[in-house]
Amino acid sequence: MAGAPLSRVSMEDFRPGTLEEIVGQDEVVARLHRLAAGIRSGRIVPPGLLMHGPPGIGKTTAARAFGREVLGEHFLNGFTELKAFDGRSAQQLTTIILEFRKPPSRGAPVRILFVDELEALSPEAVNNLRPAIEAVGGSTVYLLACNDLEAISKPLRSRCTLLEFRAVAAPEMRRVLSAALSKAPFQLEEAVIESIVRRAGGLPREAIKLLLEEGSALFDEG
Ligand SMILES: Nc1ncnc2c1ncn2[C@@H]1O[C@H](COP(=O)(O)OP(=O)(O)OP(=O)(O)O)[C@@H](O)[C@H]1O
Ligand SMILES: [Mg+2]
Repeated sequence: MAGAPLSRVSMEDFRPGTLEEIVGQDEVVARLHRLAAGIRSGRIVPPGLLMHGPPGIGKTTAARAFGREVLGEHFLNGFTELKAFDGRSAQQLTTIILEFRKPPSRGAPVRILFVDELEALSPEAVNNLRPAIEAVGGSTVYLLACNDLEAISKPLRSRCTLLEFRAVAAPEMRRVLSAALSKAPFQLEEAVIESIVRRAGGLPREAIKLLLEEGSALFDEG
């Protein structure tokens, strides 16, 4: 249940923290729940998981929520997030991958290496991921995200479970907005909410941006 509205909000306040809070991606969320259960049982390490879909659809959000579901209290120790624009070279990525051959921290079922914005990595760096994902008896789950699946080499795609994020439908987008408004220090009229749903094009990030802009207008006394 939502608590009292916050006194000041920004984009990050609206990012769902758990898989349950992710609205409008039922198929992907159900698959992530199943995969998480397999990992938590200690019996299954899935192949690489490759999330794909347009910017602002919820991939990074879902990756972190999945990490929390798998790792629970070990999230901070066990979940590592790399973004290509961190400027890491292929060599550095290889070093990080080698480190992930170590067993997970005590009590954690696995380590999770989340490589976000995959298409911005050099082809060499992406190639270095392939053998790591194939490593036998690994205790690392490789979680990858990209916008455009076509930009990812076929060999890498073939080694991954593909998770497609699709445009959020209007009824679910209304739920995204009502959850956000329950945290926001303002309310919006139904007609405004409907116009945001129409303009957001199925993308939660667009919807939240518009919500903040419409909210800002309420404080404009000029
Ligand atoms: N299913 C959802 N329900 C509610 N809010 C969501 C949902 N998905 C995303 N959001 C909101 O949209 C924002 C953008 O999501 P996120 O950063 O996960 O997108 P992304 O797919 O990783 O985009 P990019 O490809 O640009 O990295 C989040 O900050 C969050 O506020
Ligand atoms: Mg992202």
